[in-house]
Parts: sequence; structure tokens; C-alpha cells
Amino acid sequence: MCGIVGYIGNRDAYPIVLNGLKRLEYRGYDSAGIALYDGTKIQLCKTKGKVADLEEKFSRQMATKCKIGIGHTRWATHGVPNDINSHPHYSNSGDLVIIHNGIIENYASIKKELINRGYTFYSDTDTEVLVNLIEDIKINQKVKLGQAVQIALNEVVGAYAIALFDKNKPDEIVVAKLGSPLAIGIGEDEFFVASDATPFIEFTKNAIYLEDEEMAIIRLGKDVNIRKVKDDSSVAPYIQKLKLNLEQIEKGGYDYFMLKEIYEQPSVIKDTYRGRLLADKGIIKLGGLENHIEKFTNADRIIIVACGTSWHAGLVAEYIFEDWARIPVEVEYASEFRYRNPVITDKDIIIAISQSGETADTLAAIKLAKEKGAFVYGICNVVGSTISRATDSGTYTHAGPEIGVASTKAFTTQITVLTMIALKLAKVKGTISQSNYRLHLRELELIPSNVEMALQKNNDIEEIAKLFKDATNFLYLGRGYNFPVALEGALKLKEISYIHAEGYPAAEMKHGPIALIDEQMPIVVIAVNSNHYDKVVSNIQEIKSRKGKIIAVVTEGDTVVKELADYIMEVPNTPETLSPLVTTIPLQLLSYHIALMLGRNVDQPRNLAKAVTVE
Ligand code: M6R
Repeated sequence: MCGIVGYIGNRDAYPIVLNGLKRLEYRGYDSAGIALYDGTKIQLCKTKGKVADLEEKFSRQMATKCKIGIGHTRWATHGVPNDINSHPHYSNSGDLVIIHNGIIENYASIKKELINRGYTFYSDTDTEVLVNLIEDIKINQKVKLGQAVQIALNEVVGAYAIALFDKNKPDEIVVAKLGSPLAIGIGEDEFFVASDATPFIEFTKNAIYLEDEEMAIIRLGKDVNIRKVKDDSSVAPYIQKLKLNLEQIEKGGYDYFMLKEIYEQPSVIKDTYRGRLLADKGIIKLGGLENHIEKFTNADRIIIVACGTSWHAGLVAEYIFEDWARIPVEVEYASEFRYRNPVITDKDIIIAISQSGETADTLAAIKLAKEKGAFVYGICNVVGSTISRATDSGTYTHAGPEIGVASTKAFTTQITVLTMIALKLAKVKGTISQSNYRLHLRELELIPSNVEMALQKNNDIEEIAKLFKDATNFLYLGRGYNFPVALEGALKLKEISYIHAEGYPAAEMKHGPIALIDEQMPIVVIAVNSNHYDKVVSNIQEIKSRKGKIIAVVTEGDTVVKELADYIMEVPNTPETLSPLVTTIPLQLLSYHIALMLGRNVDQPRNLAKAVTVE
């Protein structure tokens, strides 16, 4: 969490850093700050609140043109969100200024030591400890800034992406990374630093992604000097050409990124299977999978590790992999998996799913699995992200940047990738009939237009949202392939509207949650055509007898549930196996409208951040 951005060059750093912070705000938004240096004087401004609050506060100060600037948007870890704990942080002498994304775990002991040596601390942050440690090393060991950073980083335990400058070196920024992401944009005679490439995309398409335990000394008029933190050995820079464009990271006429991303689903699902799914030829081609098919088909089991929405996509995959490919699948919360000494062998395949490719727990689960000899396959959206690089192979979802904190298009594109993998494996293993295989290829190709049709019901869903926006609890029920969709629907509602919601397998209702049902309780039931349709109808009857308010997601043309439910949200007919790709659409829209009507900040719900880079 937290976004960092930096600039060094001959333009005015302020607007570049400020705009960069706006683009990175999805990473954390409880406070923001900026430090600019014109070679004579440092101007530092920070505040609790959003980047807009920072902009307002800073505009009251006089900003002179500066060629160095660093900025930070925060998701608090150490110390409450307030002006003082906001970044950047000065060292005691006032010479060094730092921004930091991550956690220094052993900060308390270092702080104690520094206090004994006469240092004073003004904030509760671990970051202020780090900058003073660097200063202490620089002064006492009489080394240059880069070397002081390197020595300090060898003393700290934790995660970091840092950028700092020294008042005495007006042409230099030093950056380093471990665990948290850091990209360096290479312009002509100028450099950019950021947690992802979005802050500099209009200035340069050339970027270096630092690897863990690498640092870079960035000097104006010189090449970027990358070194290993551990032993100071030099690293040859690998410059990537970015494919990202500005349009992808703007709202494009929508009020919120979340709504834009919901509406992008027909086109991004197409992007996900474009060139990979050749339905007329009966072929699925997935670059990352082709060379490893045997590993998959010989695997004892597949373990899927992920968090949040990505974990829900993993649950959908459990159904399709077991059904078609007949490979046992376990789906694990990465945060639990990493700490419970799991039994993993080299006959296991781990699939790690992550939109951001930066989730700390998922990354740790991958490392653990690799140590135990398992083959790790990644499904990520962000190209070049840490997880995509930490895995043995993988498939990108190609959903484009997802900026709304609530995942929407990430979910449907992850399921699209997982469906293609399952179909491919089933075909190779011969566990799916030719006709069923062909049918699913054709039906998968139709999903974008089915999603389009589901989106056309937006107005009906908005009307339902008006009726239930003041409810304090919701239940979401689904069975089979749509049980994970119920979980996802509940997560979407609670994270952006702050209404308590729970997802359950419909049949589990009788084992507890049924006690909650009364005439006030809205229950969203996914009741589309499926093998369990009659059973879901029975569950709906049980709710009805207890006077619960039923909002049912039904297949177009349904008559039975329509009679029983209080409200319906229709989706086009699809095979049950692919139905999560369409049943999730009305649930996304329902959450969006309710949150909007309650006046919530849909894109930046409280306490959350897009990329969870701390455990
Ligand atoms: O980037 P990841 O897919 O690894 O993120 C995992 C979760 O943090 C994420 O899905 C989170 O649950 C979303 N806010 C849900 O909308």
C-alpha cells in the first residue's frame, strides 16, 4: 500500500509529482505529502486527507520551479493518519528527505539506538527511523548517500520502496526496493520514479522495474546506476517498453472508475481470450501453458492461492478444473497458507491469482511453494508486477488498469483465463467430450455479448438499489458455480457501501443464517438455469416462508423464480459452468448503486487500498 512518486529533470517537478499522486491514490488515501527542491531550499507540504487536500494546502504556499520532487500517498501502518505521520519525512539535520512504501519491522530497536545517540523523532512512523538511520551512517561512517542507504537497508528487516534526496546533492535521487514495487521512467535528460508506471506514462514509455534488494542512484545527465543492496554489485539495467496508454487510466466520461471498469467487461473479456481462443478451429493457445502441459496433467493436485476477489475467482476455478480436467483442486487464502506449514510436494502445481501482482500474502505463498519444489503458475493483470516475475510461468488477464479499489473486471477476466486453462487441460487429458469442449469454446466466445446484455439491465438494478439502500444487512446465496459469486457479491457490497453482507452456499442457510431472516432482510439469491435450479427454488421457498425479501438473479425468460421473488435481475442464458461471468454483473451494479446512493466514495472506500503490499 502507499504510492510513491518522484521526478528529477528540467521541467517543473510539482505538477508532475502531484498528478502522479492522483494516479497512485488508489494505493492509499489517508494522507499525502510532497517535497520539492530547487537547489537552495526544500519546500515540504503534507496533510492528513486526500491528494486534493494536499493540492489545496500547497496552493496556499508559493511553489517555485523545482527540478527535484518526491510525493507520497499513504495507507497508514505505523502511526495514525495525521499531518505529522504523513510522508515525506526529514532526517534530523533537515538534509535528507524520504518517502517510503512498506514496513520496517525492526524499527523499534533501531529507534531506541538512535535516540540513545541523540536523535529526536517527531512522528510515530518507521520511515522517520529509516531516514535517520541513513543519516547517522552517512555522517558517522563518512560515506556518500548511496552507500549510506545501502548499509542502512542491510540493517533493516521488512519491506520497502523508497525514494530520497539529499539537500547537498541537488542532482540526485536514490531509490531502492524490497517487497514493494518501484518503476523508474527513463526520459530524455529526466527520470521518474513511481510505484507503477501510470504517473509517467505521458512522458516516457521506457521503464526499468527494480527487482527486490536492488537500489538505483539516479543522477541528472548520467545513466541510472543500479546496484545490489546486499553486496553493492552492479546490475545492468533492463529497459522495458510500456504498452500502457493514457486513455486506459482515465475515467473516460464515467463518474467513477468502478463504473467504467464494470462497463469495460465485454471488451476486456474479449482482450483476455483474443488470439488464445480459436473457437472455430477448436483450439486454445496459452503461451505460458504450452511448455508445461505435462506438469499440469501429471500433477497430484492444483493448489490455488489468492486473496479477496482473486480468491473467489479461484473458487470458481475449483469447480471447473475438477469437473472438466478431473484434477483435485484446493483453494487457499494466501495469508493462511503461508503460515500453516502446508504439505506441498514437487508433484503439486500452485496457481497464484492476483490482479495487482503485488499482494504481499500471495507473494509469500509463492515463495514458500517454490521452496518446497512446487511449480508456480501466475495469473496476474499488471504486466511486469512482482508476482508475475516471481512465478515459473503464467498468463496475463489483459484487463487493462483496474483503478477502482473494488475489483470487477479483474474477477471476470481471471475466470476467463482459468476457464481456458481448464478446457485446455481437459482436452489434453481426454476428460471432456469433444462436443462439450467445442460447445464451451463457442459459449465462451459469446460471453462478451452476454455481459453486454446483462449490463443493459442497469436501470432496473438501480431501482432495486433505491429500495434496499437503507438495509443494514444482506445475505447472498448461491450454489455450485455460483456459490463463489454469492461471496463476491457480498464482498462488493460491504467494501464499498459499508453495509454488512454475507455470502453463503444456499443449502447452508439452514445451518445458521436462516435465523437472521425476517421481513427486513434482503436476500440476494443466484437462481439461474443450472443442475441445482430446483434445489435453489426450494431454498427460495424456505426464505419466503420466513418473509425475507428475495432479490433473485434469474435467467431471462424464467417464470418459476419470477413468481416467488420480490424482485428479479435478469441475465442471459449461459451454460452453468460459465454463468459466474454473467451472474456477477448485476451484483456489481447493485453494490455500485447502493454505495453511490449512500454517498460513499465508490472508488476509494474507507480503510482500503488497491494493492495490499503489507501482510
Ligand atoms: O491484487 P490482488 O488480486 O492480489 O488483490 C487481492 C485483494 O486484495 C482484492 O481482490 C480485494 O479483495 C478487492 N478490494 C476486492 O474488491
